Amino acid sequence: MEFRNIILPTSEIPQKWYNIAADLPSPMNPPLNPATGKPLAPEDLAPIFPMNIIEQEVSQQRFIDIPEEVLEKYLIWRPTPLCRARGLENALKTPAKIYYKNEGVSPPGSHKPNTAIAQAYYNKIFGTKKIYTETGAGQWGSALAFACSLFGLECEVFMVKISYNQKPYRRMMMEVWGATCFASPSNLTKAGRTILEKDPDSPGSLGVAISEAVEKAVTSETSRYALGSVLNHVMLHQTIIGLEAKKQLAAAGDYPDVIIGCAGGGSNFAGTCLPFIREKIAGKEIKLLAVEPTSCPTLTKGPFTYDFGDTAGLTPLLPMYTLGHNFTPEPIHAGGLRYHGMAPIVSKLISDQLVTPLAIEQMETFAAGITWARTEGFISAPEANHAIAAVIREANQAREEGKEKVILFTWSGHGLLDMAAYDAYLSKKLSDHAMPEELLNQSLAQLKGLPTI
Ligand SMILES: Cc1ncc(COP(=O)(O)O)c(C=O)c1O
Repeated sequence: MEFRNIILPTSEIPQKWYNIAADLPSPMNPPLNPATGKPLAPEDLAPIFPMNIIEQEVSQQRFIDIPEEVLEKYLIWRPTPLCRARGLENALKTPAKIYYKNEGVSPPGSHKPNTAIAQAYYNKIFGTKKIYTETGAGQWGSALAFACSLFGLECEVFMVKISYNQKPYRRMMMEVWGATCFASPSNLTKAGRTILEKDPDSPGSLGVAISEAVEKAVTSETSRYALGSVLNHVMLHQTIIGLEAKKQLAAAGDYPDVIIGCAGGGSNFAGTCLPFIREKIAGKEIKLLAVEPTSCPTLTKGPFTYDFGDTAGLTPLLPMYTLGHNFTPEPIHAGGLRYHGMAPIVSKLISDQLVTPLAIEQMETFAAGITWARTEGFISAPEANHAIAAVIREANQAREEGKEKVILFTWSGHGLLDMAAYDAYLSKKLSDHAMPEELLNQSLAQLKGLPTI
């Protein structure tokens, strides 16, 4: 019988995260303090994050030990299986070998707890009592609620209002793990009230929800903020995915020609590909594809420049591809990946042409999700469907060219709480929706006056 899953024994779980900062061909542009326009000093971040996380954010050390207490929690669901998608391969009649790292097996159902556990741990030993965060579709909020429950921390989550209303089960998950969840914009913060005054029916956006969470976090000595993507330390924690995958592929006697990940803020993509990029920088040929929706085309339509991470401008200025910090995707978009910016690390790799961005229309991503469910069985998070759509393109190309190739991608989460989006697709309520040029220009106008790269 042919193998399907490659299970790594517990003893083989990686003991260190990999920090790409040590191997980048040229240094990254520094984050800037918006008040001074000067590079940010680590102390500037101290009201927002605990110092042990700030140290990781700026670290240049190549490998960083994963603390024992974090490994212990990882073992609840890690190592995750690396699976061969033989059902999809057969359906596509492709000579390509398709491997996927199944990150949907974590308790909250996505890759997000890889960093949530680490962030909760570092906050706990720093002395934080309460963590504030934002969440879009609810994957990150539920991951942090889960992590905080394991470490006995309080957790409050600002959830983008449109998702809060459409995805009540994610809110309920957060509550089961002891967190409190508010619809954002809320009247609990100045940032939220400002938006509500202008538009009482605002559907919310990640940028606004981040502003609300940061505003609350800085009000107390014992509270801090946590971000589920974008920042360097989040990319670092997610490298456990690629480090495990590397061992598992080696056990199967393979090495990837193509690595694919969907990209919202960039963390699952980075987590999978950074340990391999090290070898690409050293000369190995690997194609790396970061996939985004055409309705939030940060990488394919946005400039690489400085922008705020949030709408109210409370965060530092980050060097990234961005659509402008007030960007809100239109409600017809059901596929997630709605953040206006992109991780500075991923942005840098794209601008250095080590990673290729690709935008895919919504209907193709849902069609890919249906094909996946009917060949591999699992129902994917709509975000993960972006990666699957790109995998199908690559596998079809391999068939047309009659070439064998090894494709690796991260199946970043299950979609069992996203059935309303599938229902909308199956009942033909969705359509393709590329971001209109006019909206793009309006959105990019917000960048005027900010520093450039
Ligand atoms: C299942 C899933 N995959 C991917 C993403 C995109 O985030 P990131 O780019 O940080 O991996 C999200 C975001 O919430 C998600 O829930």
